[in-house]
Amino acid sequence: MDKLIIEGGIPLHGEITVSGAKNAALPILCASLLAETPLELTSVAALKDIDTTLKLLDIMGVKVTRDADKVKLDASEVGSFEATYEMVKTMRASILVLGPLLARFGSARVSLPGGCAIGSRPVDLHIKGLQAMGAAIHITHGYIQASTLHLPNRRLQGARYYMDMVTVTGTENLMMAAALASGTTILENAAKEPEVFDLAVCLNKMGAKIKGAGTDVITIEGVEKLNGASHNIVCDRIEAGTYMVAAAMTGGEVKLNNVQADLLDAVIDKLREAGAEVTIDGETITVKSDGKLNAVNIRTAPHPAFPTDMQAQFMAMNAMAEGVSKVTETIFENRFMHVQELQRLGADISIDGNTALVQGVSHLDGATVMATDLRASASLVLAGLVARGETVIERIYHLDRGYEFLEAKLTALGAKVKRAH
Ligand code: EPZ
Repeated sequence: MDKLIIEGGIPLHGEITVSGAKNAALPILCASLLAETPLELTSVAALKDIDTTLKLLDIMGVKVTRDADKVKLDASEVGSFEATYEMVKTMRASILVLGPLLARFGSARVSLPGGCAIGSRPVDLHIKGLQAMGAAIHITHGYIQASTLHLPNRRLQGARYYMDMVTVTGTENLMMAAALASGTTILENAAKEPEVFDLAVCLNKMGAKIKGAGTDVITIEGVEKLNGASHNIVCDRIEAGTYMVAAAMTGGEVKLNNVQADLLDAVIDKLREAGAEVTIDGETITVKSDGKLNAVNIRTAPHPAFPTDMQAQFMAMNAMAEGVSKVTETIFENRFMHVQELQRLGADISIDGNTALVQGVSHLDGATVMATDLRASASLVLAGLVARGETVIERIYHLDRGYEFLEAKLTALGAKVKRAH
């Protein structure tokens, strides 16, 4: 298993370009299933989760061509409507084929995603929403068996559906399903994440009629068919936020290109509150710091509040900040896997339910630690960048799921980091 070896204590300087968003690309790749002609995408990051999704679509019969960040997907001859357990267990976002398969082909057999390190992460709201649109859904032998063959013209029916919880992929699945339904669908309490908005922009380019994406009420007027289009994936705000924290923690100055600052308001506000200097200039953000930061309280919540995907990174930042901070995770029930690993590096953190109390310490000491999930791994990289001596992070396949060219980007900023087998 690959590991990352980091020599800590080096302030980061230089500039990097932010990649296309993993969490926008995943639903948009699945949206190709809705189209009768090819969908052409740019800024598709070279990530494990993207590879997995393209492999799943290929198995279904989508003709996939890829050249660097450009991907073309032709779903004119899809022959299989199944996402097997083997595929879904490696990436739960495979559930995003469910809505498109049902909407275009009237049939889908998708493995229920198992649990995951950060929480149980059920998909009951995806299923209830599709049932509200008339789908017949049975859960048998760990699979979601869904069909619309009993419906008039075998088509999903527009419906009004209130989501009990804000769910990002749930909103995305139902938006894609509704795009080809007969009649109008209204999704209430919808997720407002930028990745949901980017999916809607792409679907509308394909001929969908979606209004309200980015707000908590999304209206989708179903159409007969969708065609391919060209779309550039929105920047990855979580990758950007991670490097911004790296700049602040190491006491350097880093310029990020290809980033939309308005997707990161809550993160930028917290970095400034911690004492980092954040300058926005068009599609670039520069973060500068002397490395002496104040502890900041964090409470995660759906967009535009502070993103849960940045919680672990800010906990690493608080570990070395001046003062005590509270980090409260309200989205997932078990997203503190990084705490024990940070403690191995010398962090002073105690957990009480969904809140961690972080007492800033004067320094961290390098050690061997283990990655458990994508963003926990990122927090260990950040801690390794400031810890004294060498930090070895094991099981870094978690990182490869969500950070494109991680070593190259960190090395370009002056970090001493290398991958070992
Ligand atoms: C998306 O996951 C992201 N993944 C996650 O990013 C992100 O952390 C999460 O949204 C929250 O922002 C992708 O977009 C591929 P949810 P998702 O459905 O959609 C509960 C990363 O690091 N829930 O918004 O799976 C659920 O258990 C990943 O890039 C139900 O109870 O998250 C959770 O507590 C990690 N029933 C809460 O809602 C459902 O049917 C939010 O989950 C659906 C969700």
